[in-house]
Amino acid sequence: MKRLLMMMLLFYASVHSNDPGNGKKLFESKCARCHGKDGTKGLFGAKNLQKSKLTDAEYTKVITNGIAFMPAWKKRLSGDQITEVIHYIKELKK
Ligand code: HEC
Repeated sequence: MKRLLMMMLLFYASVHSNDPGNGKKLFESKCARCHGKDGTKGLFGAKNLQKSKLTDAEYTKVITNGIAFMPAWKKRLSGDQITEVIHYIKELKK
């Protein structure tokens, strides 16, 4: 019984940890083809993410619902994944 509890805790921790590696993986697999690995590529007029000045709420909205040539991500990414990818975009700006 104790072991089961430990496993559940580990599972919970791995799902909910804010590992930047996850945001990076998501960004590089889903977003980099238009935005570039460093956020500056700008395919189809994509904004340079290093210069982007949106708030967290605006990021969530743009990524969730899409804008212009950028598709909406709500069917392909969970809310947690969107949060992770936003963390990563903010890392790119440093
Ligand atoms: C098909 C190409 C494409 C893909 C893939 C794509 N984007 Fe975009 N993105 C765009 C374009 C084009 C714009 C600019 C839209 C506009 O404002 O006219 C944009 C704008 C944005 C903006 C707004 C920036 C600002 O300052 O206004 C954010 C944030 C963003 N994208 C994040 C993402 C994330 C995160 C992903 C991956 C989950 C992603 N994009 C995938 C094309 C893309």
